[in-house]
Amino acid sequence: MRLLVTGGAGFIGANFVHQTVRERPDVRVTVLDALTYAGDEASLTPVADAITFVRGDVADAETVDRLVGDADVVVHFAAESHNDNSLDDPWPFVQTNVVGTYTLLEAVRRHGARYHHISTDEVYGDLELDDPAKFTPATPYNPSSPYSSTKAASDLLVRAWVRSFGVQATISNCSNNYGPYQHVEKFIPRQITNVVDGIRPKLYGKGENVRDWIHVEDHNSAVWTIIEKGRIGETYLIGADGEMNNRDVVELILELTGQPRDAYDLVSDRPGHDMRYAIDATRLREELGWRPRYGSFRDGLAATVEWYRANEAWWRPQKDATEAKYARLGR
Ligand code: NAD
Ligand code: DAU
Repeated sequence: MRLLVTGGAGFIGANFVHQTVRERPDVRVTVLDALTYAGDEASLTPVADAITFVRGDVADAETVDRLVGDADVVVHFAAESHNDNSLDDPWPFVQTNVVGTYTLLEAVRRHGARYHHISTDEVYGDLELDDPAKFTPATPYNPSSPYSSTKAASDLLVRAWVRSFGVQATISNCSNNYGPYQHVEKFIPRQITNVVDGIRPKLYGKGENVRDWIHVEDHNSAVWTIIEKGRIGETYLIGADGEMNNRDVVELILELTGQPRDAYDLVSDRPGHDMRYAIDATRLREELGWRPRYGSFRDGLAATVEWYRANEAWWRPQKDATEAKYARLGR
């Protein structure tokens, strides 16, 4: 199989490439990544000899046409992915997430490649803390932020290209990922690396917001399950029943790093901050037989803490600029 992975130098994409090279030697992997501030070719160093890396933009129609023409399957991870950045400057989100997806879909339509679209549970908006409901594939779209609205727009393009043009596509909407190679702007790596630097972790608002955590390896095994067994045109929600509020996550990081559990600061809240996400992954589990392998969030988080401790050379170059950006935003 000839596989094109967009965004393969980012957090989830890089882990997907590692997992694919490790477990599927028959797959020939090409990565297309623009190496924005969020992409790092060093994340692919361990597999560099086994893949082809192309630096380029998913909105560049010529490059995309050439690479899609040489692929059997396209998995589209590339995106502007951080909510706080989208509140600061939405334009790159419209360009990459909407125009970039359009560009890929047109190439896939021309060449007939199988396409899998990586998306987020944030397209569904948020849930109340005391609501027993979870997101399902039937939940109406109701995105809150510029980031999630551009991801929702990209999902709708995929659905339209399936129905109107017969594109062979599937979509997955996953909850919050954690694990190695995640940029230090994101919640868990930011707090781990703050502790390493002797800075107190920063909780937005009261720390009550709930996220449904899944290990990145489980997300990626689900993506492979959908590529191999998913029904064309279908949407699959990916989650592993990992709901936890932000304060509990920070307290666990502090415990795992040998700090007092109350050694954190409350800072100003994110505007429009979604309260709770929760995934019902019944379709993925029952129709496709997928199961997560990372049963314990505590163990997965402890391994992630160790990874950041052991790989300071990977994250250190990003840390100061990231904290300077947060200082400007007052968070
Ligand atoms: P990330 O920000 O770590 O990586 C994004 C990658 O895309 C980077 O390597 C970047 O250089 C690349 N990129 C950005 N713009 C590009 C462009 N115009 N052309 C080519 N490459 C470009 O993001 P991530 O957290 O790994 O997320 C990957 C995908 O998964 C995104 O589509 C995101 O919406 C989705 N997702 C993320 C999560 C999560 O918890 N992180 C959960 C569900 C879904
Ligand atoms: O749900 C899936 C989404 O998860 C993905 O689509 C996004 O790409 C990904 O970034 C993530 O979005 P969140 O906004 O939930 O993730 P983030 O890591 O930015 O924040 C997680 C929670 O922690 C959120 O409630 C905000 C809070 N937070 C974040 C930071 C950076 C803090 O309390 N303090 C912080 O310093």
